[in-house]
Amino acid sequence: MRIGILGTGNVGRAVGEGWRDAGHEVVWGSRTPGAERTVPVADAAGFGEVVVNATPGTASMELLRGVGGAALAGKVLVDIGIGFTDDMGLSHPGVSLGEEIQQAFPETAVVKTLCTMTAAVMRDPGLVAERSTVFLSGDDDAAKRTTRALLSDLGWPESSQLDLGGIATARGQEHFALLFLGVAGALGTHTFNIRVVPPTAGTATTASTATHE
Ligand SMILES: NC(=O)c1ccc[n+]([C@@H]2O[C@H](COP(=O)([O-])OP(=O)(O)OC[C@H]3O[C@@H](n4cnc5c(N)ncnc54)[C@H](OP(=O)(O)O)[C@@H]3O)[C@@H](O)[C@H]2O)c1
Repeated sequence: MRIGILGTGNVGRAVGEGWRDAGHEVVWGSRTPGAERTVPVADAAGFGEVVVNATPGTASMELLRGVGGAALAGKVLVDIGIGFTDDMGLSHPGVSLGEEIQQAFPETAVVKTLCTMTAAVMRDPGLVAERSTVFLSGDDDAAKRTTRALLSDLGWPESSQLDLGGIATARGQEHFALLFLGVAGALGTHTFNIRVVPPTAGTATTASTATHE
């Protein structure tokens, strides 16, 4: 599959190299192209059947508007971005970057994923001691199937992939960043992940009937 990665930082490099190693054709889109397989941002977006947003969440919308809806139409856009303010708050409180991108580009199928862990773990889930969880949010089932396959190529088994539902659920993924930073501070490392542990057999209540005790 042809993948255009927007951003050449920690995340863009990590996931791009992971997918390249899995046999995909990867180019990176940069504001300063020239390095190997690194092209202008619009060219990377045009190249990719799947386009990946790995840019700062505070800059992503301007960058994507520069690329334009036509170059992104009919494609899957895997969004990993989170917008942080200078004081490490969220730039999209009450909503999410994933939703903003989906709203601005209705012809593009946005899937939010991977943003709840550090870049090295995105590429190599084996860096944490136990099997852990990666989330997906998006309105388009076919785009989520494509994204699931790409997650598998990075080493995330199907059983580790949790589909949260529509793109509005990207809020939870992005807002988890605040807890992520707290846990990282407590552990003294970013190399950890969370795992969703299902209920003990026979004790399950549905989300709609469960009460918060
Ligand atoms: N680092 C993590 O572990 C992690 C974890 C979860 C989520 N995220 C999110 O993933 C995204 C990428 O994170 P990252 O750690 O890879 O960031 P990074 O190292 O700062 O890289 C971001 C890249 O985006 C490109 N970019 C485009 N417009 C930009 C602008 N106005 N200012 C700065 N860079 C711009 C730059 O590539 P060019 O200079 O080549 O254009 C830059 O290398 C962010 O939204 C971040 O919040 C990161």
